[in-house]
Amino acid sequence: MISAEKIPNNVDLHMNKRLQRALEHWQPAYIQWWKDMGPQGFQHYHQVYVRTAISVDSAGWAHFEYVKLPEYRWGIFLADPVVNRTIGFGDFYGQPVWQEVPGEFRNQLRRLIVTQGDTEPASVEQQRWLGHRCPSLYDLRNLFQVNVEEGRHLWAMVYLLHSYFGRDGRDEAEDLLARQSGNRDKPRILDAFNEPIDTWLDFFMFTMFTDRDGKSQLLSLSESSLDPLSRTTRFMLTEEAHHMFVGETGITRIVKRTAELMRSEEIGFSGDVRKLGGIDLDMIQRHINLWFSLSLDLHGNEISTNAAAYFSNGLKGRAEEDKWSEHRVIEDIYKLEAVENGEVKKIDVPMRNAMNEVLRDWYVDDCLGGIGRWNKVLEDHGLSDRLKLPDRKFNRGIGQYADVHFTPDGSYLTKEEWARRKHEWLPTPADKIYLLSIMNTPIYEPGKFANYIAPPTRGVKGRPIDFEYVRTEM
Ligand SMILES: [Fe+2]
Ligand SMILES: [Fe+2]
Repeated sequence: MISAEKIPNNVDLHMNKRLQRALEHWQPAYIQWWKDMGPQGFQHYHQVYVRTAISVDSAGWAHFEYVKLPEYRWGIFLADPVVNRTIGFGDFYGQPVWQEVPGEFRNQLRRLIVTQGDTEPASVEQQRWLGHRCPSLYDLRNLFQVNVEEGRHLWAMVYLLHSYFGRDGRDEAEDLLARQSGNRDKPRILDAFNEPIDTWLDFFMFTMFTDRDGKSQLLSLSESSLDPLSRTTRFMLTEEAHHMFVGETGITRIVKRTAELMRSEEIGFSGDVRKLGGIDLDMIQRHINLWFSLSLDLHGNEISTNAAAYFSNGLKGRAEEDKWSEHRVIEDIYKLEAVENGEVKKIDVPMRNAMNEVLRDWYVDDCLGGIGRWNKVLEDHGLSDRLKLPDRKFNRGIGQYADVHFTPDGSYLTKEEWARRKHEWLPTPADKIYLLSIMNTPIYEPGKFANYIAPPTRGVKGRPIDFEYVRTEM
């Protein structure tokens, strides 16, 4: 029997018998999935100091306590409704938003929700071995916090599927647990979610860059005319902010430690931080190049009739739609960089068809802030080295740049040059071997940190840095 105690919610779950039955049926499969595919080795004896969403009240939405991970209370929350909300963009601009799914857009909406939903459990699967290589208990706790919240985001999408898509929705909810990251027969839908995340450098890059694609997508879905989708994604963004915090500050702390080691007397100020178990700036840059380019791909083709249809029909808007002056976007033109015979030129595209690129612009801009903060750390340590985002044409697997090659500076490369030089810019097998070697011994002692990463500036929710964020209980 499901109660608000078991599934915290603000959707009056107890009043909706049909939905309750559907979720009762789905929940055991979810828990089984979590045990099989969630954090490996931390299910039975570990208590983790995590936050649980218990309301959408901005002052006190989260409750902090120790829980065993499989007993986390995954809940369903929609941000408060906006009174008299009207459609903010597209062909139906200005009309009242929808509380039900219009028949003609049912397939498109289902596809959007399933694609978003699929990424949530995928990331948990990708990260499931990281606990055995953690740099500290503080970081271990953050990993699990991100994992349980991605689980909750899956619940959020499953709630929509069960509530608004009938039988098809129930089937889709089951498939969300059946696909598996990296599985050859039943992979996750999007490529970046099929790559394993084996090292903490990759984890922080993922939460910095790939979770930020999540933010792009959630922002544009929160504009949706389908009000329950808008309200669900609006609340998810609250949690998403923490995931990007984990990524950005994780890299900040690695850069800080690297900078300290570079100036260390022990290595004669040589900068060869690997001698001290540090991560050199070139390796950090190669990982930025990889995860940024993979995450750019997640935004889809530059020119897309699907994206145009989503916008016209009011299903998916632009990020921060209210900052634009015109919301129907019938005549607007987007100046797109296009490649013809190795030459890059600007071409005019109707903006509706370029909505993926518009969202990508927002995303690139949002990433730049973090890069600036990392460089500030280098500057503060008196170093002249700088990290940067690669050109958006670099290492792309989707869209018009997929079959052409560019350096991180945006210069054109032949296929042969690319094959010969790509490891200058992308992580190498040797990088992975090195990273695994310095992460091989996990650190489970409160207040202690691996040598490649600086401690955070503060702990979680006012707790000290040496708090026992994960404890073992037999
Ligand atoms: Fe998420
Ligand atoms: Fe996330």
